[in-house]
Amino acid sequence: MSAPLLSVENVGRTFGGFIALEGVTTRFEANKVTAVIGPNGAGKSTFFNVLSGVLPPSTGRIEFKGENLIGTPQHRFAHLGIARSYQITNIFPLLSVHENVRVAAQALRSRYNIWRHRDRMRDLDEKADEALNSVGLYGRRNSSAKFLAHGQQRALEIAVALVADPELLLLDEPTAGMGPEETKDMVALIERLAKERTILLVEHKMKMILGLSDRILVLHHGKLIADGSPQHIQGDPEVRRVYLGQSHGYA
Ligand SMILES: Nc1ncnc2c1ncn2[C@@H]1O[C@H](COP(=O)(O)OP(=O)(O)OP(=O)(O)O)[C@@H](O)[C@H]1O
Ligand SMILES: [Mg+2]
Repeated sequence: MSAPLLSVENVGRTFGGFIALEGVTTRFEANKVTAVIGPNGAGKSTFFNVLSGVLPPSTGRIEFKGENLIGTPQHRFAHLGIARSYQITNIFPLLSVHENVRVAAQALRSRYNIWRHRDRMRDLDEKADEALNSVGLYGRRNSSAKFLAHGQQRALEIAVALVADPELLLLDEPTAGMGPEETKDMVALIERLAKERTILLVEHKMKMILGLSDRILVLHHGKLIADGSPQHIQGDPEVRRVYLGQSHGYA
């Protein structure tokens, strides 16, 4: 078996006395799409926060390409090849579409190359446009981000994550608040992105997850209660009881 891209060993996270994530052990292979599902409050976003360096885990060990991530500052994650989008839309509404992405590209670079000449800014512009192109927003590059439709704003957030050219991309509810048309566009975008990278996504839309994912993890009360193919997860009685049986699970 090939070495995993990301390996997670007994990872937990508490907030005060509250256990949000407990004893999660799993591995992610490169170039697969894995969905993380579970009821509200199950610990999905906490799991992503821990995997992307937003929060340190309270217990456990995480390795990316064999390198220990515990204690790694968050800004290093992008350099290592891990980027993410957030559950709540997270853009600068008054900046242009292009500026939103360029600011991210600049933040990545300036931390390590502040001595570089200003001409290098042209590289940043190109990098930003490349990311916009890959999410289908190049044509809107000069609009204010606030004028984009909701689905396009979510795509813009993904472009922001893509400037780091991540091997591992974590998407926290990328279709939150979208109708069927926008969801279809997002699914097509994720499928395109998945050709070149490893994707983890949190989602509630079951039909979408079943069609898109190679593998599904199920969290419940912070614990990993199931892990398998879409077919396996659909047939798991415990998963049906805690999650799929709920009416919103099929939305
Ligand atoms: N920063 C925090 N401080 C205190 N409690 C937190 C914090 N972040 C998350 N929690 C709690 O941890 C639990 C898991 O939250 P989390 O956001 O990970 O759930 P989720 O599975 O993403 O839920 P949802 O589907 O609603 O997004 C919840 O009970 C939440 O209130
Ligand atoms: Mg969440």
